[in-house]
Amino acid sequence: MKKCASGFLLFLLFCASIQAQKAARSKDWRPKLIPIPVSVTVGSGYLELPYDLFIITPNNKEIKQIANRLAFTLGNMANDVKVKTDIVASPKSIFLLLSNDKTIPKEGYRLKVTNQNITITANESTGIFYGIQTLLQLLPAEVEEKRERKSPLKWSVPILTIEDHPRFGWRGLMLDVARHFFTVIEVKDFIDQMVKYKFNLLHLHLTDDQGWRLQIKSLPKLTEVGAWRVERTGTFGTLSKPKPGEPTTYGGFYTHDDIKELVKYAADRFVNILPEIDVPGHSLAALAAYPELSCTPGEYYVSPGDRFMIWPGGGQHFYGTLDNTICPANEKAYEFLDKVFTEVAELFPFSYIHLGGDETARNFWEKSEQIKALMQKEKLKDLDEVQSYFVKRVAKIIYSKGKKMIGWDEILQGGLAPDATVMSWRGMKGGVEAAKQGHEVVMSPADFAYLDYMQGDAVIEPPVYASLRLKKTYQFDPAPAEIDEKFVKGGQANIWTEQIYNTRHLQYMIWPRAFAIAEALWSPKDKRNWSDFTSRVESHFDRLEAAGVKYSSAMYDPIFEVSKKDTATIIVKLSTEIDGLAIHYSFDNSFPDNLYPAYTTPLTVPQDASFLKVITYRNNQPVGRMMVMPVTELKKRVGIK
Ligand code: ACM
Repeated sequence: MKKCASGFLLFLLFCASIQAQKAARSKDWRPKLIPIPVSVTVGSGYLELPYDLFIITPNNKEIKQIANRLAFTLGNMANDVKVKTDIVASPKSIFLLLSNDKTIPKEGYRLKVTNQNITITANESTGIFYGIQTLLQLLPAEVEEKRERKSPLKWSVPILTIEDHPRFGWRGLMLDVARHFFTVIEVKDFIDQMVKYKFNLLHLHLTDDQGWRLQIKSLPKLTEVGAWRVERTGTFGTLSKPKPGEPTTYGGFYTHDDIKELVKYAADRFVNILPEIDVPGHSLAALAAYPELSCTPGEYYVSPGDRFMIWPGGGQHFYGTLDNTICPANEKAYEFLDKVFTEVAELFPFSYIHLGGDETARNFWEKSEQIKALMQKEKLKDLDEVQSYFVKRVAKIIYSKGKKMIGWDEILQGGLAPDATVMSWRGMKGGVEAAKQGHEVVMSPADFAYLDYMQGDAVIEPPVYASLRLKKTYQFDPAPAEIDEKFVKGGQANIWTEQIYNTRHLQYMIWPRAFAIAEALWSPKDKRNWSDFTSRVESHFDRLEAAGVKYSSAMYDPIFEVSKKDTATIIVKLSTEIDGLAIHYSFDNSFPDNLYPAYTTPLTVPQDASFLKVITYRNNQPVGRMMVMPVTELKKRVGIK
């Protein structure tokens, strides 16, 4: 009360803010944490943080640095946040305590809020860092705002005890910086977002047909030529090829200094960076720089997103109209990769290097005399064995640099290299097979963890060739029952950027599905619950908004299930991923609202209708987007001409 009296208006403001918070919480008192912790014991009441707030740290450089960053963040809300190492401080401080408590597992922490103070206890600074991420989620969304307040807010934290540690040690997000380049600042921002949800691994897909993004000093053309392409905007795979002499002005790359800066920034936030150099396929940018590495003589260009890979029936079968592979029968390829991995190993302290290995179109290898000679010499019976020969030789190069090797699950074909770790993307089966052979695996199955896929109906989402809704993402379990969990290092979601041109859209594709991945990787399996999760997701939408981060609200949009009753009558079943929504619709081309008919049973599309328009409401407020479904599209989905 005394502190409130410093200004009557101020008093009203912040006391009102506390009241509003309490009122909101009284509806649902449980803390809205993502990922959900191992255990939360909620007490009664709140600790109100004072204006003059102290963060007390041990005299440990790393923890003092974490404490300073916390002070900076909390500076949004309090008058004065000071970091101190002496214990003598005012009550209601935040204590960061390093312990040697055998009951706290690796990366784990204990967070205790009493009516006296807040204590985060861990055995290592990583645990302190994660305890702080949880504490920040206990504060209102305004803590995410990046602005200085003229009049400070005063906030409260619920009295509780949280015990927490991760289920898996590898909690990753892959960012494809090859298809579109993201700057150092943008990657740092990505790291800032991911650590709030306790991800600890950033996989950078650094090379592909559309760009080579890493400076290799001993091979300067990789970035002089390979990092740049002609500029095109539109739909990936339909973009026009470069015209003769057209300037290559679009792209970018990371210098050694950029990488050092990123590695340090990530390490300060307990994130490892996994570099991927994708070979032997996906190598057009490298070939544009060094065409002599191909089995097929010719001139190569960095692809702007034109169509040179053909998937005749979708699925896994494909061929190239251009040879985009590094030639396994060419000794120069191994000299080249030795140079590349020497610099990669020096730049990235993480113990693994990813060599890609996916989607190698081999139709040019079939015709190559060099490949035929290699097969004869090395007694390789098919092209799987040719690829395996290549991967095993490249693995040896990587091991010679003191690093471990990881690759996409195609590295299983023709025989896995000894000690290789498999990243399973074509479902879980590659990971299961590798684990059964005693290899370590990281699960990133496309059907649960590909965040480049559309998250709602194609009629409203930016088009991509496949869909993955939030609910399916939430069903991801990186350790299927048929394998020993000890082989599963963890998992990750992958964000391919063929169709992601900027950070706003990148954010839209990541959130909220990365929440689901974060929970699959951190939280105990038996703590996960879809409807509880969605209520937490909703409160984190407020946090993303406060942070200025874009997200998708596709989880509120209806799901269309279309069938036909006879040759011409279309039936549409509508449902929603989350409970408690009313779906309103129209067939008369007008925009429905909550006073339009509410969906109750499957709809028969009127014979002459042009559009079905739908929108979801909750408590008479629109929550979903206006979806405009052409009847021609419905007809297409059930094969009516
Ligand atoms: C992949 O999606 N080609 C690994």
